[in-house]
Amino acid sequence: LVPNFKEELDQAGSAEALEELRVKFLGRKGQLAELLANLRDLSAEDRPEAGKKGNAVKNELNQLFAARELALAQEKEDKALANFDPAMPGRTPESGSLHPISLVMDEICSVLGGLGFEVVSGPEVETDFYNFEALNLPPEHPARDMQDTLYVTDKVLLRTHTSPMQVRSMLKRKPPVAVIAPGKVYRRDSDITHTPMFHQIEGLYVDKNVSMADLRGTLTSFVQQIFGKDTKVRFRPSFFPFTEPSAEVDISCVMCGGKGEVNGEPCRVCKQTGWVEILGCGMVDPQVFKSVGYDSEEYTGFAFGLGIERVAMLKYGIGDLRMFFENDSRFLRQFC
Ligand code: PHE
Repeated sequence: LVPNFKEELDQAGSAEALEELRVKFLGRKGQLAELLANLRDLSAEDRPEAGKKGNAVKNELNQLFAARELALAQEKEDKALANFDPAMPGRTPESGSLHPISLVMDEICSVLGGLGFEVVSGPEVETDFYNFEALNLPPEHPARDMQDTLYVTDKVLLRTHTSPMQVRSMLKRKPPVAVIAPGKVYRRDSDITHTPMFHQIEGLYVDKNVSMADLRGTLTSFVQQIFGKDTKVRFRPSFFPFTEPSAEVDISCVMCGGKGEVNGEPCRVCKQTGWVEILGCGMVDPQVFKSVGYDSEEYTGFAFGLGIERVAMLKYGIGDLRMFFENDSRFLRQFC
């Protein structure tokens, strides 16, 4: 039995073959069991001696089996190691990155922080009072139509701009107030250049003797830190119910440097005008000071609001606003 077992053991080259062999020789109905069962037929005097021998055989088979099992496992491991190439590049786990909107938002906050503004934040679900009424937009005011409002109830809505943070900040603080409020805003609007949610950052500075010159100086410094020191700034008269006078600010086109063309081709970013609009601003309207209980004889201030997506598109040369919201990782990876 032992030589037979040895021979077959040497030939068993796999775990399956080894298991087959175990059943055949060592199993409950295997050859060893059969041999030991035969001992019962021996005479009483022959049995002890034969029993001893039987046990010795059993031990030997078990030992041989265990040794072969170990050798096979070792062989398998050696093979795996031989196939292992330590110079092969590993699989790097995908790492996340900040969304371009977050990056631009952080950068804007850091530049304005350097100019002395403190970051504040407030609710996206607002009341009519903060979003409109206290900003000199009484009910039935035609300028409410400028912003396609998403209503929750009659008097509760999704803020259409970050300007309600002007009101909240002034009610909470005493002058001097110098705050910026970044965040999401919502409008019932959706096409290639409008998404129902987008981001703005509001700026507000209120103190004694704040003038339009301060506004211009602040915005010029800000714009040149974001877009480069050669960037030019232009104020165009405009209208907002909560500022008087009001202006829209253009910067010289980032794409063509204000020339209106790139390599003889008409500039697509500024549509050949050399200027792109980036924000709305103005001097805080006395009506707004009145609704927060500030004395407009003592204090003046300026406010501005700018769209983050717009800044990001100009900074990174992104032509389609929808890119920001599709979350295609091939797009997002480029901003690591
Ligand atoms: N809230 C205005 C808008 O969303 C921007 C603005 C802010 C204008 C502050 C003037 C002052 O269009």
